[in-house]
Amino acid sequence: MVWLGIFAAVLVLIALYDVLQRRNSILRNFPLIGHLRFILEGVGPELRQYIVTSNDEERPFSRDQRAWVYGSAKGLGGYVGFGTDNELELATNYVVVKHAAFPLPRPAAGDDVVPCAKVLGAARQRRQAFRPASLVNVSAMSFGSLSANAIRAIDEGCAQAGCLHNVGEGGLSSYHRHGADLIYQIGTGYFGCRTPDGRFDLARLVDLVQSASVRAIEVKLSQGAKPGLGGVLKAAKVTSEIAAIRGIPEGVDCISPSAHTAFNDVDSMLDFVETIADATGLPVGIKSAVGEQRFWDDLVAAMSSGDRGVDFVTVDGGEGGTGAAPMTFCDHVAFPFRVGFSRVYRTFAKAELADRVVFVGSGKLGLPDNALVALVLGCDLVHVAREAMLSIGCIQAQRCASGHCPAGVATQSGWLSRGLDPAVKSPQLAAYVRALRHELLQLAHACGVEHPALVTTEQVEVLDGRYGTVPVSELFDYPPEWGLPSREQAEQLHRVLVA
Ligand SMILES: Cc1cc2nc3c(=O)[nH]c(=O)nc-3n(C[C@H](O)[C@H](O)[C@H](O)COP(=O)(O)O)c2cc1C
Repeated sequence: MVWLGIFAAVLVLIALYDVLQRRNSILRNFPLIGHLRFILEGVGPELRQYIVTSNDEERPFSRDQRAWVYGSAKGLGGYVGFGTDNELELATNYVVVKHAAFPLPRPAAGDDVVPCAKVLGAARQRRQAFRPASLVNVSAMSFGSLSANAIRAIDEGCAQAGCLHNVGEGGLSSYHRHGADLIYQIGTGYFGCRTPDGRFDLARLVDLVQSASVRAIEVKLSQGAKPGLGGVLKAAKVTSEIAAIRGIPEGVDCISPSAHTAFNDVDSMLDFVETIADATGLPVGIKSAVGEQRFWDDLVAAMSSGDRGVDFVTVDGGEGGTGAAPMTFCDHVAFPFRVGFSRVYRTFAKAELADRVVFVGSGKLGLPDNALVALVLGCDLVHVAREAMLSIGCIQAQRCASGHCPAGVATQSGWLSRGLDPAVKSPQLAAYVRALRHELLQLAHACGVEHPALVTTEQVEVLDGRYGTVPVSELFDYPPEWGLPSREQAEQLHRVLVA
């Protein structure tokens, strides 16, 4: 009996410790039973080796990929022993980076200075054109789909890492005002910059962006996980706080239309972009998944005179994430990143307009190999969403749509989000972003160039599973100069890097 009492007392003490500690959200939210996860995780590799999945099988992010993000976020250095556990010779579509025989010196530990190779807004001479200091930034995710603590952790982490934080289409909340430079996103619901009947309100936009550290504006046409559809935030999640931020009624389903009402074709879209850029002085771009080609042909044709144009184009891959979307749209609508992005880049490059636009990519690009291929294909910036979530404690439970995220990241539950302490998680976000930049710099130096944007399409090949390989240049039909900054941009970049 006495032993039973001691045992119960120990359990109570552990439970109390779990609830009061702030380092681990799962234990804070699920005292005592949360330990089961870690015990199972500890023996997971052994169990999986025999009966479940391998390190590379799970989706959207494999165990190896998640481990890289977790390790980076915790400053563990990303080293593995014993060699690769991937099957190299027989793998298909497997990326191989061709190192230089005489590489540049390895970057110093902690060197993660990797700015954008282009100046955002320079081509159209926007009043507030700037060179993004970080090639890696955090992609759009709204307050509403993520918890207040998650948004705050991301914002503080972005400030620490010196990268941009895209607020998402749900407007600008107080949790976005913790030091990071922001990209303000305008979705079809115009949340935060709308009239009471849901139309775009330019004056409100100007007031809003002037009230915060907004550096650029992104007009969202579509998102890889749900292209051609607007979002829905269920009534239960439309709290008074969210209603006030978005400028919508409280406790009523919040539905964003599938298309914009402020414009309806490329011509009127460019007028919209120019109006916003004039009124705010900020660079303005668009975000889109890639479906029909005609839109891109029309856009390039309309920009070719040089009188109007977008400052950046964010291409989101069909493999991209979402807070909630129908499965068919996630699985079958819009091209995957490499297919879609190369089509868009090719359209601009053929018209000799690629140098005038900053290309942003998203869609599982928060891993060094994927990010490098994106940069080789012509991306100037990579934006990461779910990898950023992983870095602040997401365990890929895939419960974002239900609102019951056990890690407190994608939920509005006060109890669950309480487990996520921004003071603990923001340095993790920053460490992850820095680690990704550092790894990209290491890859560039191994290839003999001083910046990842200078790695060419000839320096990356893809294995075909039959002992053959194809260079990226041939696979995507890129002439040698495509995917690289212009000579002038490369010279300016060099001056920035040596400064
Ligand atoms: C929880 C969640 C919320 C998102 N909210 C938005 C949003 O408000 N606007 C948007 O353009 N994209 C949104 N996205 C898409 C991401 O910004 C990004 O484009 C996509 O997930 C691909 O990046 P990833 O593979 O690094 O996650 C969201 C994604 C997630 C996972």
